[in-house]
Amino acid sequence: MSKQLILALSKGRILDETLPLLAEAGITPAEDLRASRKLLFDTNMPGVKLVVIRATDVPTYVQLGAADVGIAGKDVLLEHGAEGLYEPIDLEIARCRLMTAGVQGVEPARARLRVATKFVNVARRYYAAQGIQAEVIKLYGAMELAPMMNLADEIVDIVDTGNTLRANGMEPRELIAPISTRLVVNQAAMTMKHERIKPLLEGMRAAVARRRAA
Ligand code: ATP
Ligand code: PRP
Repeated sequence: MSKQLILALSKGRILDETLPLLAEAGITPAEDLRASRKLLFDTNMPGVKLVVIRATDVPTYVQLGAADVGIAGKDVLLEHGAEGLYEPIDLEIARCRLMTAGVQGVEPARARLRVATKFVNVARRYYAAQGIQAEVIKLYGAMELAPMMNLADEIVDIVDTGNTLRANGMEPRELIAPISTRLVVNQAAMTMKHERIKPLLEGMRAAVARRRAA
């Protein structure tokens, strides 16, 4: 087979759960990803390479064809827009929820709401769809701090156990979207490299199904 295949993996939390799935689909990195400062890795499969990048950069790599396949959270895909990407597989890992949250026991402000989040596009779309006028403030982390510091009335953030919210005197309010990790594919690559991508998709689907049945 001629054409090489580039897979873009999200570093961080998702990586630990992605590697076993990839291994079940027959792809293992040629060296320990965590022990290296490298960003581009060979695998056991000739012509299949991995890049390990910030989760938020994965849709960009795949959309522009720098990578053929990507692994990223649905939250990241929703925020990016991920236009023109195929999203054939829900890997069913890193499940959580994208939610609005506010200070415990405090009624959400009725007038112009101030919302702190790193998911500014998702937040703008969500509040607009609810008919709520919101001023969306971009933060890069620690969103739970914003209401406490009078920076915002609500936040839009990932919620799993709810522990982070509770620890900061906050409560979850509305569900925006259930989140899990998705495998995405560049549209042109799906056609041009189909003979390489097809077995990968089949292997990943089978691995997810085995997990589900276990
Ligand atoms: P970056 O370091 O690039 O800012 P991040 O810190 O948001 O990224 P991680 O914390 O590694 O990235 O999370 C990666 C993905 O895991 C998120 O995009 C989301 O899909 C999922 N995720 C985040 N928090 C949780 C959680 N508490 N439980 C389950 N899944 C989560
Ligand atoms: C994520 C997310 C929330 C938290 C939610 O943060 O940003 O803060 O998990 O999980 P919980 O409902 O179970 O508390 P993470 O732990 O990944 O740290 P981060 O802020 O460095 O991304």
